[in-house]
Amino acid sequence: MSDCDWEVPLTTVEVSEADIQAVMECLASGWLTMGPRTQAFEDGLAAFVGTPHAVTVSSGTAALHLACLAAGIGPGDEVIVPAFTFVASAAGPRYAGAEPVLCDIVSPYEFNLDPQDVARRITPRTKAVIAVHFCGYPARIAELRALCDEHGLILIEDCAQAIGTRVDASGRQVGTIGELGAFSFFSKKQLCVGEGGMVTTADGAFADRVKLLRSHAMTSTTWDRHRGHDPAYDIVDIGFNFRLDEPRAALGLSRLGRLAASIEARREVVSAYRERLAEVDGIELCFDEQAVARTSHFAFPVLLADRFTRDRFRDRLKADGIQTTWYPALHTFTEYSRFAPDGGLAQAAEAGDRHCALPLSATMTISEIDLVVDAAKAALGSAARLTSATG
Ligand SMILES: Cc1ncc(COP(=O)(O)O)c(C=O)c1O
Repeated sequence: MSDCDWEVPLTTVEVSEADIQAVMECLASGWLTMGPRTQAFEDGLAAFVGTPHAVTVSSGTAALHLACLAAGIGPGDEVIVPAFTFVASAAGPRYAGAEPVLCDIVSPYEFNLDPQDVARRITPRTKAVIAVHFCGYPARIAELRALCDEHGLILIEDCAQAIGTRVDASGRQVGTIGELGAFSFFSKKQLCVGEGGMVTTADGAFADRVKLLRSHAMTSTTWDRHRGHDPAYDIVDIGFNFRLDEPRAALGLSRLGRLAASIEARREVVSAYRERLAEVDGIELCFDEQAVARTSHFAFPVLLADRFTRDRFRDRLKADGIQTTWYPALHTFTEYSRFAPDGGLAQAAEAGDRHCALPLSATMTISEIDLVVDAAKAALGSAARLTSATG
């Protein structure tokens, strides 16, 4: 099975005529670097998320990096990060010179930061907590907010996989609870433009800092100067080129218009999966129905018995043309083992070993879901036979 020839790929990016038109219009305008479309995208994003400030950047990784710098995180600081996440969550504080302290998750069934373990990891050097809403599922953000307030810590939400996820019954969204939120528009995300990201914050000073640092710490932008504003500029710090460009902003703005509908379509796919897999021996579902109703469904992970069974299960699905993926726990990587604290990360390790993310897209059909479910049942049968043959 070639990588591009899947019967059911992990995800499908749907590009509409309106998306193409929006990018073409941008190209025809002749203005390609950060300008009016980026501003319009930011305004739309701020309204969607329900945040006073949305500052776009070139990736989710850049968003985490700048969120850490804006928060004043630096050398000598410790930042608590879940051990079960994508590596960028821990790289963000490292770019700022701080040390990530890996922390355990609640369980493989609720694979986000465990507030009790966070409390155990706090030291006089702790400056911030990065709460990841992993696979789109909301972290225990109210408990983490209370903990950070009690200890005077900054809370940064890594919402890279969670745009549109609600944290409570009021409908409040991720990225509005922490001092700063970091989002990704990478090509597999719910709102994707290829590469891109955003920092959200309610604090105007943090927003200004992120804006400054994303563009070389220059006191004016190219668009400002093009329009005759600010003919001169100053450089007031060491900054970066982390800008989003106009074609991506145009694409993002076009796609933002159907994001809510696309999240609902993902939710229906996941509900259909959960209904079909609920009683299947050998597969366990993660999170409860309340979380399923609130998440924006970046991915659909299920749990298998153990690592061996999971790996065989994936092999079988691959042979049937079904693409799956998984995330290793961070401390199992060569570079990150040294950041694991004493006392272990048992839940994160178990989640890394046991989970498998099945295909999920807004456009998945019921027959594709049935294909995956039937293949999963068949794969489980063969994985069980292999386990008994070898063990
Ligand atoms: C949890 C998490 N954080 C951060 C990032 C980084 O985002 P980007 O790929 O846009 O740099 C990702 C990307 O996949 C992610 O999954």
